[in-house]
Amino acid sequence: MLAIHHYSKEEIMALLEAAIAFSEGRSAKVKEQVFVSNLFFEDSTRTKTSFDVAERKLGLEVVPFDVTHSSVNKGETLYDTVKTLESIGVQLFVIRHKKNKYYEELAGIKSAVVNGGDGTGNHPSQCLLDLMTIYQEFGTFKNLKVGIVGDVQHSRVANSNADALRKMGAKVYFSGPEDWFDEAEFINGNYLSLDALISEVDVLMLLRIQHERHGEKMKMSLDKYHKKYGLTKEREKKMKPNAIIMHPAPINRGVEIHTDLVECKRSRIFKQMENGVYARMAILKDALEKKGIKFIEP
Ligand code: CP
Repeated sequence: MLAIHHYSKEEIMALLEAAIAFSEGRSAKVKEQVFVSNLFFEDSTRTKTSFDVAERKLGLEVVPFDVTHSSVNKGETLYDTVKTLESIGVQLFVIRHKKNKYYEELAGIKSAVVNGGDGTGNHPSQCLLDLMTIYQEFGTFKNLKVGIVGDVQHSRVANSNADALRKMGAKVYFSGPEDWFDEAEFINGNYLSLDALISEVDVLMLLRIQHERHGEKMKMSLDKYHKKYGLTKEREKKMKPNAIIMHPAPINRGVEIHTDLVECKRSRIFKQMENGVYARMAILKDALEKKGIKFIEP
């Protein structure tokens, strides 16, 4: 799984159903010994640990790999690192890398590769857990209004989610600082001010400001960002009664969202993290089955 746009609506639905079944107690164990490794060249808390838990739940053997203590520091390329671990016996890699489409360098690798996030490109496993959270809540995507708010330009989560949500039948709108958006979004009417958006959406998806991907330091103060583009307590009161709040996290409390709203009744932020394990179980099982590896489902 490299990018969610490679998957059809039916394939996404099948993965969602598998993830939901895992969340409801279904289990699956790999039939033979299979080694997997998580190669994170960028920092992660949620994605790395939830893949680790998902792998163990499926009975996979996780080979630890710490980039900071590896031969990457002696100049070994991504391809040579993956080829080396594949030669040693690893059959599936979860990879996060700052380079967009890093996986194009891995065309000669036979093992399964699951993208744990590439630069500003794609984050398919986050997308699947986000779709799962929305589907559990509303039971459909058709005509749901989803507002994606914040640093859309630098967010691989926004890219993956906007593509997939539209494919599944939802209506996607954007909001945030206007100079962070392409002109096309304004022309197409997809951009709305947060105050116009807030009372319309069923799902409010807030994004972390990706400071590390900004060429230059943000000029606006974080306090001003919160007042203009963040979910304040006043704005939350204007949301539809059943609307939910999502954020891929990590959260900048008091910037994208007021700290008191992080765990409020309509927040699904920690539910998203919980769902991450089940979505990743579905992804791993599917990727390995496509390589001919069998699972036992008691
Ligand atoms: N949402 C997400 O990708 O979080 P991590 O960077 O902690 O994995």
